[in-house]
Amino acid sequence: MSPLVVAHRGASAHRAELTLAAYELAIEQGADGIECDVRLTADGHLVCIHDDVVDRTSSGTGRVSEMTLAQLSELDFGSWYDNEPQRVLTFDALLDLVTSSRPDLKLFVESKHPARFPGRIEWKVAATLGRYGLSKPETKDDARVVMMSFSTLAVRKLREYAPRLPTVQLIENMGKQGRDGWLPPWADYAGPGVDLVRADPGYVERCRAQGHDTYVWTVDAPEDVELCRDLGVRFLATNSPIKTREHLAGE
Ligand code: G3P
Ligand code: CA
Repeated sequence: MSPLVVAHRGASAHRAELTLAAYELAIEQGADGIECDVRLTADGHLVCIHDDVVDRTSSGTGRVSEMTLAQLSELDFGSWYDNEPQRVLTFDALLDLVTSSRPDLKLFVESKHPARFPGRIEWKVAATLGRYGLSKPETKDDARVVMMSFSTLAVRKLREYAPRLPTVQLIENMGKQGRDGWLPPWADYAGPGVDLVRADPGYVERCRAQGHDTYVWTVDAPEDVELCRDLGVRFLATNSPIKTREHLAGE
C-alpha cells in the first residue's frame, strides 16, 4: 500500500508554514493529511507556531508563551515567506477547516511540549478536540486525528487525556531499545526522521515486528519518497504534497 501523504506544516514548500493558506493549498493538492505544531499563548490559547519564538516566521519578535493571542494577531505570519500577509492560525481555526473539509482528511497534531507546564498543552489539545467531536472515534483506524510529540511525557499525557486517539512517538535519536523498534506502551506509531530511516532502513521492519507502523518526516527528496514507499512506511510527512503524490504515482 502506498504511504499516506501528510502535508508538513501545510504545503509549506509553496506557502508560509502553518498558515491557513498553506493548509488550504495542501487540501487542494490532495494531501491525505495535514500536520501542525501547537503552542500555548500567555492567555491560554492554542496557536499553530513551530518555534518557541515568533522571530523567524512573523513580523514580530518574542516568545509565544509570553504573548497574548491579541498580540500575536497584530503580527503578519506570511510576508517573510512570499509577501502574502497571513494572520496567526489558531488551533480552533485549523479545526474549523478540517471539519469542513473531506471527511477522510487526517490531522496530525504535534504538541510542542514545554517542560515548564507538563500536561497543560496536552490537556487543552484533548479538550479542544473533544469540543469538535474529534476525540472519540469508534476505532483508532477511524480516527481523523493523530497526536504526537518528541517528548515521551507529552505522548503519555495525550494518551491519558484522549485515550481513543492514536499517538506517534516522534524520534530524533534512539538508544539500543529504540533501534529494536520498541516504543513506550502509550505510543501506537514510531515517528523517526527520514535521516534515521536512510541510515538504518531495517528499522521500519523492526517496528512492524513489534506491532508499530511508522510515520516518517520530512520526506521531500524523490529517493527518500521511494525508500519510504518500498519499506512500507504508513505515513509520510512532506513539504510538497503535490510533488510527493506525483512521485508516488510514478509521474
Ligand atoms: O512531523 C514531525 C516533524 O514535524 C517534527 O519536526 O521540527 O518539523 O516539528 P519539526
Ligand atoms: Ca512538527
